[in-house]
Amino acid sequence: AWTGSRQADQERIVYDDEQRGLQKQIIIYFSHVVAENTPKGLAAQKFAELVEQKTNGRVKVEVFANGSLYSDGEELDALLRGDVQMIAPSFSKVTELIPEWQVLDLPFLFHDDNDVRRVFTGKVGAELLGMLEEKGIKGLALWSNGFKQMMGTTRPLVEPDDFRGLRFRIMPSEVIDKQFRLLGGEPVAVSFDRVYRALERHEFDGQENTISNIYSKGFYKFQPYITISNHGYLGYAVMMNQSFWNSLPKEIQQNIAEAMDEATRWNLRQSKAQNERELQQLKRREDVHLYLLSETEKRRWERKLAPLYQEFTRRFGSRLLNEIKKSDE
Ligand code: LMR
Repeated sequence: AWTGSRQADQERIVYDDEQRGLQKQIIIYFSHVVAENTPKGLAAQKFAELVEQKTNGRVKVEVFANGSLYSDGEELDALLRGDVQMIAPSFSKVTELIPEWQVLDLPFLFHDDNDVRRVFTGKVGAELLGMLEEKGIKGLALWSNGFKQMMGTTRPLVEPDDFRGLRFRIMPSEVIDKQFRLLGGEPVAVSFDRVYRALERHEFDGQENTISNIYSKGFYKFQPYITISNHGYLGYAVMMNQSFWNSLPKEIQQNIAEAMDEATRWNLRQSKAQNERELQQLKRREDVHLYLLSETEKRRWERKLAPLYQEFTRRFGSRLLNEIKKSDE
């Protein structure tokens, strides 16, 4: 993994025209694991541009894509150590630190993008982000990628029984692990940077992911049976090291918050458009077989997966879930 002299790198002396003097430039390293041309990659770049504009170049956000600094198994620790100032892991990867975040991994939690927007930018989103504080993390925003689809290596996955005995790559998440076990599959957690090689070696019979991840990483080459199930949601917790945030001047914090707000609103529109566009691209490919799960078939998955809701409520109560459902209405 990358190690740098943080203190030395973090502040560069720059000439500031307006103040006619020397000022320290603040550098923020933002590390993520997906490709640049994805909802998360593009939102990170957008945020970087906005921060630079709003601070007149006083703050520079350097974005590192494709896990080039840290893999998704390492980035949370790197953030807590302060080796990197910003990351945006998927919700699943936050659940180990804050188990209540499992709520966001529950299947069929959101019906459409409007539900997602209301929850991410509303009261529940703020509450979830607030939970990060006691862990030494400043939660800045929830970003979206899109709905997850189910992929099969040799055949389509349509009925719950189709999952029986198959091996699935999953993100590290108790809920997702149980989801595949309830369907009779065998889930194995693998970090994102290792998925492509694992598929090349035929280690898995299936996985779930969003169209933009499937498309940008070429997963469809190995798992060409894609069921448009929209059964789960892949979103990200955009976070900053808390002591780094606290060390920033108030005015810079304000600029960053504004830039994040704009980037988040942009991300909600962009992610939807990108997933739709790339789905059209996949439709055009003869080597990809798409299947649209019907509402009746969905209900069968839901029934099979209902114990996940019972277990969540048993462990954490129903308040958070009810809040989410309320904002859906
Ligand atoms: C995955 O591991 O499949 C995703 O969380 C990757 C990502 O960050 O979109």
